[in-house]
Amino acid sequence: MDGKKVIESRTIMTEMIMPNDTNPIGNLMGGNLLRWMDIVGGICAGRHCEAVVVTASVDHVSFSKPILNGDVITLEAVVTRAFNTSVEVYVQVFASNVKGKENRRSNHAYFTFVAIDDENKKPIKVPRVIPLSDEEEKRYESAVRRRQVRLILSGRMKPEEATEIKAMFDNI
Ligand SMILES: CC(C)(COP(=O)(O)OP(=O)(O)OC[C@H]1O[C@@H](n2cnc3c(N)ncnc32)[C@H](O)[C@@H]1OP(=O)(O)O)[C@@H](O)C(=O)NCCC(=O)NCCS
Repeated sequence: MDGKKVIESRTIMTEMIMPNDTNPIGNLMGGNLLRWMDIVGGICAGRHCEAVVVTASVDHVSFSKPILNGDVITLEAVVTRAFNTSVEVYVQVFASNVKGKENRRSNHAYFTFVAIDDENKKPIKVPRVIPLSDEEEKRYESAVRRRQVRLILSGRMKPEEATEIKAMFDNI
């Protein structure tokens, strides 16, 4: 399969925060937000890969700005780069009140999804990502370094093998 543009799989999802989504002080529970982020990211990855995908990892997520009962959130997911059988997806969350005011970006995270073959349930090759805008180019370039960090943290890569990260410090 040839490469695919980022826009081809961009996925948007909107939710209104209901009492059942919140903690005892009326803020959206972090776990519920992570679930929606995983869903929107998974749909985006599935569209890009044209395959069933599974979540392999989620990078750092902060919850610094509370999302309140009655708020409306919009989640946007875009692919940043494909590797061999995995694809990195960038998910951003934007919140506002029900009147469309008090707009803020509340959260963001990088997810990694792996495309799975329907029959054998084994990882399969994914199409490459074609970045077009400056922003897409930047995320595409930096994806290699983020991948090396997460593979080190998950014990799948030795720090001395992380050539891209090492290169950042070689000239210091
Ligand atoms: C993700 C999974 C398919 C990887 O299987 P595996 O046998 O380790 O396969 P591989 O070693 O060939 O790795 C496949 C890809 O996953 C990537 N990967 C595996 N673990 C990863 C992690 N923790 N972070 C980032 N990428 C990871 C590998 O880098 C590889 O990517 P690449 O082919 O693009 O280089 C397997 O661990 C799995 O099925 N996990 C459960 C997924 C799931 O159920 N998720 C829902 C959450 S409960």
